[in-house]
Amino acid sequence: MPFTIAIDGPAASGKGTIARALAQRFGFLHLDTGLLYRAVGAMGGDPVAAARALTPEDLLRPGLRSAEAGQAASRVAAIPEVRAVLVDFQRRFAVQEPGAVLDGRDIGTVICPGAQLKLYVVARDETRAARRAAELGVDPTEMLAQLRERDARDADRATAPLRAAPDAVVLDTTALTIDEAVARAVALVEDRLSAQPAP
Ligand code: DC
Repeated sequence: MPFTIAIDGPAASGKGTIARALAQRFGFLHLDTGLLYRAVGAMGGDPVAAARALTPEDLLRPGLRSAEAGQAASRVAAIPEVRAVLVDFQRRFAVQEPGAVLDGRDIGTVICPGAQLKLYVVARDETRAARRAAELGVDPTEMLAQLRERDARDADRATAPLRAAPDAVVLDTTALTIDEAVARAVALVEDRLSAQPAP
């Protein structure tokens, strides 16, 4: 049975970095589900039609990592029909052998409620803003306001809001280096893998 790791959390909490590191370490596939919403937001026009027409190449569009693309993604992500169109693709991705890591906002709660490990990655608002501002070369104060606006929209929407699943392990990366955060996540995966029944 494939091993699925669901990683959720607010913007710039470190979940993407942890997801990539886990996928590399365990030889699992990785899907940054935020990119799906970023691509839909960037395609313009009717967001539901854009979600239906989405191809893997759309995920490679330039500019998808920008703060503006993040805001557009958060807006289209609040549309229930857009989310519904993207569910099957994410669920199919999640059950590939030998395992898959998906990071986003609703992976542990909606997309993969049966994931073998769920992580909910958090960090202080100011820390997240400073990290993302350094990454994008923008002003941290402006970034803090943008992150808070986006988190509020993502957490307050009616469909699949940003929430920790009841059985998620909360990992606070505020005071951790990347290596420390990854080491904790790796230890959790190893623990769960060792508890798996033999194939
Ligand atoms: O992870 P990210 O910052 O790239 O995500 C961009 C936006 O997409 C985020 O503000 C909300 C939305 N999103 C979502 O609603 N559900 C997901 N599983 C992933 C992202």
